[in-house]
Amino acid sequence: MRQFEESELTDEVIRSLDETSNPRLKLLLQELVRSLHDYVRRTGLTFEEWEKAIDFLTRTGQKCTPSRQEFILLSDVLGISMLVDAVNHRERDGATETTVLGPFYVGEHKPMPHGADISEGLEGERMYVEARVTDLGGRPLGGVPVDVWHADDDGFYDSQKPGYEEKGPSLRARFVTDGDGRLAFRSILPCSYPIPIDGPVGELILATRRHPMRPAHVHFLVAAPGYEPLITHVFIEGDKYLDSDVVFGVKNELVSKIELRDDPQMPDGRAASGPWHLMTYEFRLKPGHGTAPKPMLASAAE
Ligand code: BEZ
Ligand code: FE
Repeated sequence: MRQFEESELTDEVIRSLDETSNPRLKLLLQELVRSLHDYVRRTGLTFEEWEKAIDFLTRTGQKCTPSRQEFILLSDVLGISMLVDAVNHRERDGATETTVLGPFYVGEHKPMPHGADISEGLEGERMYVEARVTDLGGRPLGGVPVDVWHADDDGFYDSQKPGYEEKGPSLRARFVTDGDGRLAFRSILPCSYPIPIDGPVGELILATRRHPMRPAHVHFLVAAPGYEPLITHVFIEGDKYLDSDVVFGVKNELVSKIELRDDPQMPDGRAASGPWHLMTYEFRLKPGHGTAPKPMLASAAE
């Protein structure tokens, strides 16, 4: 019978995967074994700690439902989602920076006309968003679908709230850029919000004395044929969590100065009902291809 010393075990397990027919799968599995064995060796992992880890991962899986993905949340708070994003977007060539999709994208949004108010009567400070989509040379890209979504004044997405299916969407829509690459819409100013912390990921956040907050942002998904799909946010300058986003998603160029205006009319000439905020942003797309992401989930709340 074969028996392996601690020092031989890793090489033997790696060898056991040698016949994996898919070369990429073989590489991923062998490197995973190497990293995990190394981790056990370096930390001197005890039986008790290993059991706790298994229990944590088991409960993480058990917390997942069709409308909640605790493993993605775990990947987010450990910076793995942003690392995967980084290694897949090393060369930006001047294209807009990317960031996490997050769990609140629910798939293609309902198309709305330019200037539409997506707030569905929700309370909050009024905001007008003007954006433009161009190629790397600044040439406008027309006819491009842009999905937008953001949290409300209390920090919740529509899909987290009870009755979402019946009430329909709010603070999310699709706009198609005009011939000059522009889109515009009305909404309310988003605020910073906590990620869901009523599960194992919340325990981890608590045990590590981190806060669960994301700085205020609007999500944008720009998908133009012939260009890499752009998944990003525009963050609001001045937010107190910009330097400590719980999912490490902030990039300097994605932080936008939001102007407080008191003009009686918004940029499209329609009347403003009081002071309002103006958010402007230009998205530069990189040639390429790729499919727009599948929605992770309908909601991160049960
Ligand atoms: C979000 O921005 O919607 C989000 C991203 C990662 C984890 C939780 C929420
Ligand atoms: Fe978000």
